[in-house]
Amino acid sequence: MQCVVLVGGMGTRLRPLTYQTPKQMLPLVGSPIIEYVLGGLFHHGVTDAVLSLGYLPDRFIEAYPDNVIGGVRVSYAVEPEPNGTAGAIRFAAEYAGIDETFLVVNGDVLTDLDVSALRAFHRDRGAEASIALHAVEDPSHYGVVPTTDAGQVIDFVEKPPRDEAPTNLINAGIYLFETSVLERIDVGRPVSVERETFPALAAEGSLFALADDAYWLDTGTPDTFITANVDVLEGRNGRFGPGHGNVVAGSWRHPSAWVAQDATLRHSVVDRDCVVGAGALLDRVVLMPGSVVEDSATLRNCIVGPGAVIGARAHLGATCVVGAGERVDAGESLSGDVRVGEG
Ligand code: GDD
Ligand code: MG
Repeated sequence: MQCVVLVGGMGTRLRPLTYQTPKQMLPLVGSPIIEYVLGGLFHHGVTDAVLSLGYLPDRFIEAYPDNVIGGVRVSYAVEPEPNGTAGAIRFAAEYAGIDETFLVVNGDVLTDLDVSALRAFHRDRGAEASIALHAVEDPSHYGVVPTTDAGQVIDFVEKPPRDEAPTNLINAGIYLFETSVLERIDVGRPVSVERETFPALAAEGSLFALADDAYWLDTGTPDTFITANVDVLEGRNGRFGPGHGNVVAGSWRHPSAWVAQDATLRHSVVDRDCVVGAGALLDRVVLMPGSVVEDSATLRNCIVGPGAVIGARAHLGATCVVGAGERVDAGESLSGDVRVGEG
């Protein structure tokens, strides 16, 4: 089955990390998110995918010049201009010459959901499009999808206020489409699949949705990105990452990293060429390659970008994001949703 993977967003919620690196190329326990996403799809029988690229496309193309990611053969459809999620799907599907039922995936979602079950459901219902659903506590950050008992979608409401969400079942960002959906998408103007295509299909009764209770996580915010790292460390996402061999006592260190003997790591990731000084404490922290935490600094629920330096005795609390090459001075104290280097 062919698959369109959307990876062209700007990753604004993960700035400043996404100024240099597209969200799906950020490392999750040492390997880019996209490798987990495609590896998961490969596990569920997907052999070919077209990456729908828009923002910093060369970062993908240069990283995988032999066109294989996570076992899946990939091609690269680079949008000439941003035309929304539906525009991106149409462009990529046509680029790849897709001419039969195909899968669409939001490329920032880690999941082990059952693609075969969605396929069987889609066929049984004679749907034009089918959406996988996932139950969450607060649906207001997602597409909310009320259905009939048979799974026919009644409405599709993108990111409603919390008290107006009609259900806690949300769009998991995994769809099956018939090619007829493509013809509904206007060319030459931005079209959002969530705000236009799905509501229109729902109104016609040809959109269906199936809930799945497998592991699911959208990695696109600082908090969920940290959670994604911790889940991979704990194997909660169903499959261990490529570098899993180096997980010791719940944390991961790249073999080239240097960690002082009396530093404390809890649920943390210390990537290639990082340095962690004496007496430092890291709890739910992601250190990207080449970053440095000096002596006695304490970090909780933070992401430290590549080559950034956290000075001695600094205190960083939930949820700090430090951009590539930035410096937090010795003894400084930061918490709240602080972004260092967002500019
Ligand atoms: N090619 C391309 N072009 N890709 C895009 C574009 C675009 O214009 N806009 C976004 N993307 C990609 C992003 O890179 C990401 O992989 C995926 O599409 C989803 O975009 P997000 O920006 O992460 O959307 P979201 O998380 O706010 O909401 C979406 O995902 C939720 C589930 O995780 C929506 O589809 C919600 O309805 C859904 O619940
Ligand atoms: Mg997302």
